[in-house]
Amino acid sequence: MGEKTENYVSDIHNADYEEEYHRILLDHNCLIDISGRETESLNGTWHFCVDPYDTCRRAHWFREIRCNDTGAEQPVDWDFDWWERTPVPGTWNVQKPELFWYEGSGIYMRTFRYVPREAGERVFLCFEGAAYEASVFLNGVFIGTHNGGSTPFTVDVSGAVKTDNRLIVVVDARRSPLRVPMDNTDWFNYGGLYRDVHLARVPNVYIKDWFARLAPDGTFSKILVDVAVSGVDGADGERKAALAIPELGIEEEISLRQSAGRGVFAVNADLLSLWEPENPKLYDVSIRLLPEDGGPGGDLVHDRIGFREIKIRGREILLNGKNIFLKGVSVHEDHVLLGKTTTSEIIRETIHDLKEMNGNYLRLAHYPHDRRFARIADEEGVLLWEEIPVYWAIAFGNKSVYRDAENQLAELIQRDRNRASVIIWSVGNENPDTEERLEFMSSLAKKARELDETRLVSAACLVNHTKLKIEDRLSEFLDIIGVNEYYGWYDPDFDNLSAIFSNSSPDKPVIVTEFGGGARSGQRGNINDLFSEDYQKALYIKQVETFKKYPFIAGLSPWILYDFRCPRRFNRYQEGYNRKGLIDADRKTKKLAFFVMQAFYKEDSHETGHSL
Ligand code: GCU
Repeated sequence: MGEKTENYVSDIHNADYEEEYHRILLDHNCLIDISGRETESLNGTWHFCVDPYDTCRRAHWFREIRCNDTGAEQPVDWDFDWWERTPVPGTWNVQKPELFWYEGSGIYMRTFRYVPREAGERVFLCFEGAAYEASVFLNGVFIGTHNGGSTPFTVDVSGAVKTDNRLIVVVDARRSPLRVPMDNTDWFNYGGLYRDVHLARVPNVYIKDWFARLAPDGTFSKILVDVAVSGVDGADGERKAALAIPELGIEEEISLRQSAGRGVFAVNADLLSLWEPENPKLYDVSIRLLPEDGGPGGDLVHDRIGFREIKIRGREILLNGKNIFLKGVSVHEDHVLLGKTTTSEIIRETIHDLKEMNGNYLRLAHYPHDRRFARIADEEGVLLWEEIPVYWAIAFGNKSVYRDAENQLAELIQRDRNRASVIIWSVGNENPDTEERLEFMSSLAKKARELDETRLVSAACLVNHTKLKIEDRLSEFLDIIGVNEYYGWYDPDFDNLSAIFSNSSPDKPVIVTEFGGGARSGQRGNINDLFSEDYQKALYIKQVETFKKYPFIAGLSPWILYDFRCPRRFNRYQEGYNRKGLIDADRKTKKLAFFVMQAFYKEDSHETGHSL
């Protein structure tokens, strides 16, 4: 921008207005673990207004200044308390028909009262998900901006909170080549404050986050618990933390170096019942920060944790030392009535449908799903693949895009690393094999391992259709090679599928992360009629018959459990939906191919050549 002349009016002349809101980024560094805490919900009806030109941020509406310096009222263009009310959580696309295709900014506002309970307590605003970029304002003050449409963020507002508060959030849902995902995907771009919003109170010295897991040492009897404490005064004095797992008779204390505020419990647990799909055993685990005087009180967090080990050995995936075949299916976070907002009931119904298919595993595509999914999967004994939306052609050469992707990975891992059901972190899907992409995604794979040495790292890789081989330079950096293939659909010559597997000799497990074809529920025909259920069923039969011949295939997640909205698909059978679901978008009507997978997953290992 040139120099600001006298007639410069910032909110109409400043093209770089977003810089102001990118100076304070709310990222994984300010994320505190609230999964083990009581929080106060800020869900409910918020005032809402569309903001297609992002004027709230351009013209600083959030300051709510009605009068000029002389006290004269100005003709402002905002009216937060007068605006209509809308439910939070929710996506505006399905809440208001006139906003179905809207992809701009939306302004949310609500008031709330805050009365301190404990001297020195700290107050956090906690957001489970806002698509895509969210700028938070409290009592007229800019608090910070979060990037990433599917991961949680928290922010300490102790310095800005009052008794009566006005909270404004601008959510910008625009797609962009410089976002993660970029502007071209195969799913619907829902916008809004679409997941829960909470307020959390913590003592002045509190447990920021913690990570409990089975030591990945093959003994299945040693528990490690990392603790990170915040608010310590930096003195070299010692603070102590106490770990309790009553059912295992474990009560341990460790000292935390105050300056570092970190510590690790390492305790033996010979009586441990390992978590597994057939026996999803969870233990009550609590950690208490002991006051300096050793008395009662102190910050307390608790959660229900499953302990298990996931590893690979050659081409096998080992859960607690036993080879397991991942009998799965992919699923989007997409609901006809709720858009990208979900509920515990919907999650349980999804898991019920998986189990009816005799499955034990879900690929949560292509972004982090709601926090509750992994918690419910822990209870239900379902294994999960979780993924960040490094999808298709990301701007791999852009450093700020990498920081965004890495931050979303770090927020996902920090949120779900205490969940036994999560066994695989995926760093992306179907990306073009370039040098920049290799650098970008191999760095993400390394970061995932750095943050969590107990899980497997994967991605949906590419097949070399010219050489008919599983070949992707990224696979060197992965524990499991994910392979998307659409033989019998996009690739007509089905015989090439066997050729690919026969020509490939992977040295690690392969999961066929996508296969399938479209069918409109109820559309019948013969096996050559595209988009008929009969075609889809015949395709699935040929696919599973092929898989039986290749023991290096350690798992499957066909594309996809339910039909889902997709703005790239408008033929007479799709009408704005991707129809590759095994179940219709109504989440009730099962297609013929569903029963092919149900039968295949039910077969014993000797028939499928896999240890199912
Ligand atoms: C790709 C992609 C999916 C997409 C699917 C399809 O493999 O990973 O996101 O929906 O193919 O074409 O239906």
